Amino acid sequence: MSWRPDSWRARPALHVPTDYPDPAALSAVEKELSGYPPLVFAGEVRTLRSSLASVARGEAFLLQGGDCAESFREFHPNNIRDTFRVILQMSVALTFGAAMPVVKVGRIAGQFAKPRSEPIETRDGVTLPSYRGDIINGMEFTPEARVPDPQRILKAYGQAAATLNLIRAFATGGYADLHNVHRWNLEFVSGNPQGDRYREIADRISETLMFMEACGVNGKEVRSVREVEFYTSHEALLLGVEEAMTRVDSTSGRWYDTSAHMIWIGDRTRQLDGAHIEFCRGVENPIGVKCGPSLNPDELLRILDVLNPKNEAGRIVLIARFGSKKVGAGLPPLIRAVKKAGREVVWSCDPMHGNIMKTDSGYKTRRFESILEEVGAFFDVCRAEGAYPGGVHFEMTGQNVTECLGGAVDISEGDLSSRYHTHCDPRLNASQALELAFILADRLKVARDAQPGLVVNA
Ligand code: PEP
Ligand code: CO
Repeated sequence: MSWRPDSWRARPALHVPTDYPDPAALSAVEKELSGYPPLVFAGEVRTLRSSLASVARGEAFLLQGGDCAESFREFHPNNIRDTFRVILQMSVALTFGAAMPVVKVGRIAGQFAKPRSEPIETRDGVTLPSYRGDIINGMEFTPEARVPDPQRILKAYGQAAATLNLIRAFATGGYADLHNVHRWNLEFVSGNPQGDRYREIADRISETLMFMEACGVNGKEVRSVREVEFYTSHEALLLGVEEAMTRVDSTSGRWYDTSAHMIWIGDRTRQLDGAHIEFCRGVENPIGVKCGPSLNPDELLRILDVLNPKNEAGRIVLIARFGSKKVGAGLPPLIRAVKKAGREVVWSCDPMHGNIMKTDSGYKTRRFESILEEVGAFFDVCRAEGAYPGGVHFEMTGQNVTECLGGAVDISEGDLSSRYHTHCDPRLNASQALELAFILADRLKVARDAQPGLVVNA
């Protein structure tokens, strides 16, 4: 039962590549990485855990989102800024509409490795290994690009560090100051209904700040007005990298995975005796567990026993990803089992991964309506089962992409080809993401009003 950062190596590790041509070169890279500075600090991880504990108690809401897969090609300060600001905008809509603090967690600064449904890909009679994320191999359809290359790990570390550095600067250096709430409106959103609705809220926030300042409260000196707390997360898939980033915290003597504040276990790698659960059980970070249609309630309880034996609130986020047609039947048995066992968890909804479809022209996409339907069903199920709908998990970008169908911007199948840039799954664009946030804020308000005795410390 003893745990070490490398004890996962004795377990089956699905979706961890075993075809590096030079295993010694991989080991050398992992060794080098283990001497690199941590990306996050244990104290920050503890703060996130306590914020997630307040989500578990129904006092806050979790907003987690970002790219399906970060890529070397899309690495640009403008992309980081735009993703950051659409998350800020969504959070303003949610905080304002629902009078709830919003815990903001990006799928960013480390979301590089992807599990794939198929290990191989065939095009025009040529078969190659699948693309597995920029930290492993390249997306180009050539035999050379598809060979796993350990040097990519160091490049991904550098990109994650630079991304996180910019995010920290935005979060605390003035950009995220609520006095700038008007400036976060992205140009291409400002001309549409979401932009108008956002502007109304921004006007009211500005008025409130002026009122506060007229009353003698200097907003510039209030930390929660001037700065935001923003956390990072990714799927802990490539365990050699997670192991190398795992360090003992000198103040508590405990192990932390310093590659991100929060990590999660994917729907394809949550086997009880598997490597991913083994790794995650030993680190103190909050752990997300994707819950899809193949997960049965007993198995989930056993996973919780392993990952959270002391039943601490803020440790576990269960991320339901059933698909709009399956969530109504699939989620209630899980919620009931967790409730009956008295397990402390945050329930979050990923309305993306169960709603993937392919168009006739071959684009992988999702319908805005299905996403909305799944979120709505998630709220309904939680209400019926007496659980708190604690958060959402989106694949989205601040860019004006055309990857998901529908929404008020009404992206059609014919539009998909114009700005389809994702390296893996289709993302909501900023306008679609903000639209969802407004709808969610309305739902949350109803959920909050329906929960007597709920403490709201907005
Ligand atoms: C993901 O979040 O990108 C993902 C692959 O999700 P899941 O494990 O739920 O399929
Ligand atoms: Co995805």
